[in-house]
Formats: sequence, C-alpha cells, structure tokens
Amino acid sequence: MLIIENLTKTYDNGFTALRNINLEIPDGQFVSIIGLSGSGKSTLLRCINRLIDPTEGRILWNGIDITRATDDELRQIRRRIGMIFQQFNLVKRSSVLTNVLSGRLGYTNPVYSLINYFPNSEKERAVAALQRVGIADKANNRASALSGGQQQRVGIARALMQEPEMLLADEPVASLDPATSHSVMKYLQLLNEEDGITVMCSLHFLSLARAYADRVIALKDGRLEFDGLPKDIDNERFKQIYGEDAVEVEIH
Ligand SMILES: Nc1ncnc2c1ncn2[C@@H]1O[C@H](COP(=O)(O)OP(=O)(O)O)[C@@H](O)[C@H]1O
Ligand SMILES: [Mg+2]
Repeated sequence: MLIIENLTKTYDNGFTALRNINLEIPDGQFVSIIGLSGSGKSTLLRCINRLIDPTEGRILWNGIDITRATDDELRQIRRRIGMIFQQFNLVKRSSVLTNVLSGRLGYTNPVYSLINYFPNSEKERAVAALQRVGIADKANNRASALSGGQQQRVGIARALMQEPEMLLADEPVASLDPATSHSVMKYLQLLNEEDGITVMCSLHFLSLARAYADRVIALKDGRLEFDGLPKDIDNERFKQIYGEDAVEVEIH
C-alpha cells in the first residue's frame, strides 16, 4: 500500500507544482495519472521514489515513510520501484541484453557492468525479462537498431530486472504512435495482472487511461481534480479542463 498524505512540492524558485495531494493506492492497482503538460504528473511520480524531495507531507510505502527514509532504506525502496521513461533512456550503442542487465544494479556487483561481465544466471534472467515483453530475439541487437516501441519494451524489461513491486511510468508512450502505444501499454497491463505489480503511469490521453487503468487520477495545476474509476469520468467536464483532443483521441 502506498499512502500519500498532504503532499506539496514547491520548487526552489517558489513555484508550487503539487498542492496537498492525498492518495491511497493499494498493491496491485493500475493507476493512470492524467493532466495537461505542467499539471504536476512528473513531480508526483518523482516524489514517490524521492528523485525530488517533497516540501510538505508524507509518502508511506508498506509502512516506511519515504520522505524520511535513511539512505539505506531509500536504496531498499528504490530497488523495488522500477522507472520507465518517455525517452526510454537506453544506452543506444549497447546491446539490448546489456541494457536489460543494467537494470539489475543494486542486486549485483556494480563491477560487472563496468567490465561488461555478467554471470550466466543474470543473462538468463535478462533473456527471461525480454521474453516477457516479446523481444527476446532482439537480445543481441544494438538498442539503437530497435523501433521506439521495441525500445520501450526493453525499458520495461530493464525495470523488471529489479523484481519491482511497483512501476512508475512517466508518459511511457508519449513518443510513440497510437498503435505502438497500445502494444506497449498491453505489456504494462500484463505485468500488472500476472505479477501483481502496482503500476502508476502518466498518460496524455484519456482514452488510453480508460483502456488500461483501474483508477484514474487527474491533476490540474498541481491539484487533484478527479480520483475515481475510468467509467465515472464525465467526458464533458474533462473536455472543459483538458480540451477536446485529450479526451477524444481513440487508440485502435
Ligand atoms: N525543477 C523545477 N523548478 C521549477 N519548476 C519546475 C521544476 N520542475 C518542474 N517545474 C514546474 O512544475 C510544474 C509541474 O511540472 P511537471 O511535474 O513536470 O508537470 P507534468 O509532468 O504534468 O508536465 C510545471 O509548471 C513545471 O514548469
Ligand atoms: Mg511530465
């Protein structure tokens, strides 16, 4: 269970990006966070694994206060939280397998990655992660040779190497075309359903949130505007807040 209490983030320049956010997220939920650019989606996700420090409030994960965790606790927490990025953040000139193996850091001796040596057991684990996202046949290709959708699936496989309990995906499909977005979202859904991994995923389009999320959280100017089931979203209200395009674009 992730509990967010009165979370507020004011950046050093005085700009308040999140205001008094309260959320309780049970394990295994697929949560999508929607909102216009600048509404605070990335700030929220980054507070959860403390890539940035909240200004006020608490974030409790399985009873541990992330906002006050010691370095040691934070390392343990981050090990269980996988991150997926809009721009995939792969090492493009390295092989797909090496990229996936790098996700195991925190578990294995960091020297392995420096000298590009990994035990067979780790390689098998990486191939298994690639199999989960349907691209084990690309293991020896350079990451740069893959399409955007394939690169993001490598990003997911890399996150899987952490054996995460939660995945934080910050606009994982914003750089992809609609059909490819769908194929990437399906893998997040699969991992959520089969492995019970909690997913928090920011998305640009309501239609994607509707298709994949158990729960939709909508932000506006750093405030929680909506928190509920996809079916309870009032299209007209959302159009007023987010504009016609954010609501209407359908993914096939
Ligand atoms: N390091 C920062 N310093 C100051 N303002 C920031 C910083 N990072 C983000 N912001 C501002 O906070 C607001 C929310 O940003 P962000 O969380 O990135 O929104 P989103 O991910 O929804 O686009 C934006 O207005 C953004 O300009
Ligand atoms: Mg963002």
